[in-house]
Amino acid sequence: MTYLFFREISGNEVEKSKHLLRQLLLFCIFFLCLNALTFASPVPSDEPDSVYLFTYNTNGLRFAWSTDQKNWTPIGAGHVYLKSDYGRWGSEKKMNSPYLIRGKDGVWVCVWQINTYTPQFASATSKNLINWGPQSYPYLSSGKNVLRPVITYNPQKESYKITYVDADGKYYATETKDFKFYTPVAEVSVAAYQNHTISADIEQKTEGQVHRVPWSVVAELKKAQQLIQYKNTLNNETTKDDAERFADLKPLETKLSAQMALAKPISKLLTGVFFEDINYAADGGLYAELIQNRDFEYHPSDKSYDDKNWNSKYAWSLKGGKATFTVDSLNGIHPNNPHYALLKVNEPGASLFNTGFDGITVKRGETYHFSTFAKAFEGKNISLTVNLVSAKQGVLAQKKLSISSGSWKVLKTPLISSSNAKDVSLEITVNSVGSLGLDMISLFPEKTYKGRKNGLRADLATTIANIKPKFVRFPGGCVAHGDGIANIYKWKNSIGPLESRKPDRNLWGYHQTMGLGYFEYFQFCEDIGAEPVPVIAAGVPCQNSGTGGGGQQGGIPMSEMPQYIQDIIDLVEYANGAINTKWGKKRAEAGHPKPFALKYIGIGNEDQITEVFKERFTMIYNALQKAHPEITVIGSAGPFFEGTDYEEGWKIGSDLKVPILDEHYYQSPGWFINNQDFYDQYDRNKSKVYLGEYAASLPGGNRTNWETSLSEALYLTSLERNGDVVSMASYAPLLAKEGHTQWNPDLIYFNNDEVKPTPGYYVQKIYGQNAGDQYIPADLILTDQLEKVRKRIAYSIVKDSETNSIIIKIVNLLPVSVNTTIDLGEVKIDGIVATKTTLAGKPTDKTVTQTIDLTTLKKGSQINLPAYSFTMVRFVGN
Ligand code: AHR
Repeated sequence: MTYLFFREISGNEVEKSKHLLRQLLLFCIFFLCLNALTFASPVPSDEPDSVYLFTYNTNGLRFAWSTDQKNWTPIGAGHVYLKSDYGRWGSEKKMNSPYLIRGKDGVWVCVWQINTYTPQFASATSKNLINWGPQSYPYLSSGKNVLRPVITYNPQKESYKITYVDADGKYYATETKDFKFYTPVAEVSVAAYQNHTISADIEQKTEGQVHRVPWSVVAELKKAQQLIQYKNTLNNETTKDDAERFADLKPLETKLSAQMALAKPISKLLTGVFFEDINYAADGGLYAELIQNRDFEYHPSDKSYDDKNWNSKYAWSLKGGKATFTVDSLNGIHPNNPHYALLKVNEPGASLFNTGFDGITVKRGETYHFSTFAKAFEGKNISLTVNLVSAKQGVLAQKKLSISSGSWKVLKTPLISSSNAKDVSLEITVNSVGSLGLDMISLFPEKTYKGRKNGLRADLATTIANIKPKFVRFPGGCVAHGDGIANIYKWKNSIGPLESRKPDRNLWGYHQTMGLGYFEYFQFCEDIGAEPVPVIAAGVPCQNSGTGGGGQQGGIPMSEMPQYIQDIIDLVEYANGAINTKWGKKRAEAGHPKPFALKYIGIGNEDQITEVFKERFTMIYNALQKAHPEITVIGSAGPFFEGTDYEEGWKIGSDLKVPILDEHYYQSPGWFINNQDFYDQYDRNKSKVYLGEYAASLPGGNRTNWETSLSEALYLTSLERNGDVVSMASYAPLLAKEGHTQWNPDLIYFNNDEVKPTPGYYVQKIYGQNAGDQYIPADLILTDQLEKVRKRIAYSIVKDSETNSIIIKIVNLLPVSVNTTIDLGEVKIDGIVATKTTLAGKPTDKTVTQTIDLTTLKKGSQINLPAYSFTMVRFVGN
């Protein structure tokens, strides 16, 4: 039997050379492909020294080359080398009339028009036309808008001039040396507008600029696109080609030899969860409130005015009797919650109904606490009957109440359901003639997670808790940095008495009551033994914002930044301060005098790393460090695993020595398989990593199955291996309510009475429940030497010092079974009973089968890894 010896990557010299070898091999393959492509293309074999380069736009910058300026050859098979990042995601991110020049030190500078309604233009620079620096979108003070901007460079003054025309046909100019500071805009004559755009026949008549460049520029552009194409091929690999890819593959024999002496400490926080109020994860989801729109604060703007039924009466209706139901805001219960239901009843018997979130689900014998703020506007002792009514079974619970006060008072009563039902409505019948106000109408199950008041749905919270997450990141994602400055999540709006919390539009197109607020998040973290990791916007909203400004990031005005920063400092006091401090007192009033021991705060969420961001992030970071050096700040490295924001995020993170940076990537299984070495080369002396959002989904759609989950399991072995630099990781998104899903895939789907964990959930659970604090390097000896085979078997061995347990995780993403002999060196395993957990299935399965066996180990024990499986073996060492 031929064995090929693979030594694991763990930072020593031998490991480095192995990695280099692998890279070399990939490189050779790549260049073989490249040569093949080159032969097939019409490029002359004796290349010209220099050519004309034509820059044109097909919603992004493209290039063509020519020797005579007549016959143009497009470069990069339709590849766009620079895209505009201005505007809402998708269709509004448009590049118009790009204008490219060579400026100081030969650096390429591109300016372009972003739309027809903002006095802004865009600019970006690049040394090679391939990697572009951050884009900036300066506001100009003159002209209605900026159309067809043109840029020129004056080497004597080392200064750039941007001239443009506006909607009125007037011409303007401004100058800059650094693309940060601009001279005041001056109106200029048409003669000053020197636009050297020409027309060329590429695929069709196209406008652009021409430059004379050395052939190497064209060659590099081609190479860059071919590299992308090559990577795309790898990333698009899926198991559907496995029959062909592994046609001759027979079951394999492997040997896993651990080197106990080389154990290294790894993060104890590796597996956590990221909770975001997306997909109805909070209201109608984890937050146990059963009444929808209890505060009558729903507003058409929650849904960008796109849903004519979405307003302050949503989910409510009036039936029977001579009565009217309006929503008023005169003298409401709190300025943050001004609206209430006003019922004018002229004949007893009118009923106000609420249908909950897709109906209310109740269980027989269980208690549901009804409460409401009520006020009699006209009439005394207004009598109410509160019912839980099932559409099929009729009344399941009933209680009587009466409103006797002319000012807002709370009425409450418990209701015990006589039956199980999923089709229940809350019915409030008015038995008297009169006029009354109702607000904050609530129906709360008594059985919440750990019995908390205003608590969480027990089944969902238990499912999350069972992952044993070491931390919870909240309240978002995009929800944290918001859709426009006004929509940035403000933690202070989410605490205190429920009626005083300030609801807000949820950027995912619905409404946040803030019933699940910072207090409840902290409480949940404490209840499940997880570190709280709140994320606060870095003074900038989401770069894809559609409201507030011209559709771009923008930033909190500098005059408001001191208060914004103070709010973040106050958060630390709210979580950790003594009860005699202003904010610590509020925590105590909420029922938690003991501090919550907050240690981490995230600043920013996958932001575009612009000057606007950098300025505000630096201010917040410095102030927070000064006020609370004990808090570990987590910065942002942009929305992708590469590119401008990733580079810039790491640059500013490194410059400021931010302890941890948050990376995000949603990728295909092929990406996760082919990038297992992503963190192997990370600099151990720089910031640590929090992989705050990741998920695998099939190429071309947000779909998951066992294959995607298995590729996550495989990648997670590499996070454990790199647990000295990767401190934390969390799958995203966590929860999704059926019928209200804005984002797929998600980890746990649910409806009103069922929780439906995905295969990926079971992967997370195995990692969460079987974490270690030491990583034990190991070598894998494999009977098949092929790279494509080798990279589909991944493993990690960790030790949990607290329980003295050794945990071996092995992923087999091959269509054949693999027998692995385990050699743990000096660790004696003879006679030890180990728990073996296996998740296995067909790649296309939507569910996964889990088996748990007890197995007695002996020297040379073999573990069978079924095709497409994830196996975990755990035992207490001696
Ligand atoms: O996880 C869903 C979204 O993905 C998050 O809100 C955001 O950070 C990312 O774009």
